Amino acid sequence: MRTHHCNELRESHIGQTVTLIGWVNTVRDQGGVIFVDLRDREGLTQIVFRSEENSEAMAASHKLRHEDVIQVSGQVVKRIDGSDNQKIDTGSIEVVPTSLKIVNKADVLPFPLDKELSNEDLRMKYRYLDLRRARMSKNIRQRSVITSAARRYLDEAGFYEIETPILSNPTPEGARDFLVPSRLNPGRFYALPQAPQQYKQLMMVAGLEKYYQIARCFRDEDLRADRQPEFTQIDIEASFIQQNDIISLVEGLLQAMFKAGLDLDVGTGFPRMTYREAMDTYGSDKPDTRYGMKIIDLRDVFAATEFKLFRSILEGGGVARAINAKGFAGITTGQMNRLNEIAIQAGLPVKTLAFIKCENGEYKGPLWKVFTAAEKEALIATLDIEEGDIVFFGAGAVDTVSTILGRVRTEVATMMELTKDSTAFNFLWVVDFPLLAYDEETSGWGAVHHPFTRPNSEDLALLEEGKLAEVRAVAYDVVLNGYELGGGSIRIHEKELQAKMFEILGVGPEDQAVKFGHLLDAFRFGAPPHGGLALGLDRIAMLVAGEDSIREVIAFPKNNKGADLMSHSPCQIDLKQLREVYVQSTWKDTKPAPEPGTVASETDV
Ligand code: AMO
Repeated sequence: MRTHHCNELRESHIGQTVTLIGWVNTVRDQGGVIFVDLRDREGLTQIVFRSEENSEAMAASHKLRHEDVIQVSGQVVKRIDGSDNQKIDTGSIEVVPTSLKIVNKADVLPFPLDKELSNEDLRMKYRYLDLRRARMSKNIRQRSVITSAARRYLDEAGFYEIETPILSNPTPEGARDFLVPSRLNPGRFYALPQAPQQYKQLMMVAGLEKYYQIARCFRDEDLRADRQPEFTQIDIEASFIQQNDIISLVEGLLQAMFKAGLDLDVGTGFPRMTYREAMDTYGSDKPDTRYGMKIIDLRDVFAATEFKLFRSILEGGGVARAINAKGFAGITTGQMNRLNEIAIQAGLPVKTLAFIKCENGEYKGPLWKVFTAAEKEALIATLDIEEGDIVFFGAGAVDTVSTILGRVRTEVATMMELTKDSTAFNFLWVVDFPLLAYDEETSGWGAVHHPFTRPNSEDLALLEEGKLAEVRAVAYDVVLNGYELGGGSIRIHEKELQAKMFEILGVGPEDQAVKFGHLLDAFRFGAPPHGGLALGLDRIAMLVAGEDSIREVIAFPKNNKGADLMSHSPCQIDLKQLREVYVQSTWKDTKPAPEPGTVASETDV
């Protein structure tokens, strides 16, 4: 239907007769002349209708409206001197049509396509129009480009691309499962994979050695800007490798993807930081290192303190730490309230964060008067407190203090817009994660990564001795600008060790046989040492595109209640269809099912 796309014609085409097809981006009627910017996914070309050149096309062009689909044929001409448009690639030419065909008329649009729209619900309802906008079109293209680059890189590195089942069994990746009833097996359910973890390990047992997949994963969990209920991983597994092999492979992969997406060389050899260091310094296992505001330990400052609260905490094995938000002494009451809220959510046991600030040469804040002169001096030196600074304190159990100060740190950075104009891509590896974490709610141990993660061989004795909190895993996360891009580990490949791990996690022998029998069985037949990692493709695409939500790089995302406002998914299923799969709804039939995303009350079920 066309000879060229709308971003193709240049001065070298002048004199040629061409046919273009696309959408009417803009129409400007200037009396005797009508200018139309014709758009397709590649860009824009100006079409000029003048009555003296073609009165028929001119007459038809009067009827054109935004987003009509039209086809024009005509001659490429140079624009008259001084009317070049430097902003578009085709800006030095225009097309003078000899024919105009209105292929399909467009109704009045629910929103203009050339302006940013803050009403996200409206954007999602008409997502196919939202995607016509230049920014979204660019994002989708960029995602495609980086995905192809990933495939090319992994193909060249000798990896097989292999698909794994979507209808599978529950996978322990830390979220709830989406369930699918089986018509052929009454009363039984598939679970959609939270990740292809066990399949990829079984492929290693199968001798395939190097696997990858652009894999859809499904997790029923609370949604955020960087979390969707269905998302995509670049999932990787390899045999006969160690942590460093995976790290170099993934650095090269990310380098290739950023090169393809942004023509930017992000290099390799990303810095590495242990989990402990990340928590102690940044209060996060995915630190944003584009700004400092590091957490500083104050044990030395308060070693001999008479201040009772700090003394009892320090003597009881706790910590006193602080961050210095440089130049933020002018914090507003609203911002302070917000920080208090965040700190409370993170575990602050009191209502307000302790702080001191330095304004007009004076130190202020509730704590200042309780410190001795020596403590004040040491504090100023240790935290480098200067005019205009505000310091936030945390004292208590080390993990709680890290979490509180970590959250406060990122919130202050947002308030101060510390990264607003940053073009930095600060990649880093967080390594030496703990293997296990104690869960107060279940009063049991849970896997920090997942149950298949290998304990560090140096810490096996600790595992035997039951010092579970101290055992490190051979697990690693790759982090970019405060986002966890990916995570992986070297796996357990021995049946006994895997069974022991399940035991520690509270999965007894019977349950092991039912849920993981296939894997334990497979490990009996010469399972090779193996490991891997999965990258969140949506998050990478988001950061490449400079967006702050993965919804901006997914063609048809769900909103934060897991609903698709365009197709009205999830939807009600009629009783007949439910019966066919042996499912009976406990939702009270007398009431209409709630709108997607609303929370059921106890009395409704
Ligand atoms: P993990 O659970 O760390 O590891 O997931 C890997 C990466 O997937 C991305 N991700 C998500 N992206 C969008 N929405 C979500 N809900 C979501 N959840 C996770 C993140 C994350 O770093 N099987 C292991 C990998 C392995 O051990 O090889 C796994 O899934 O970017």
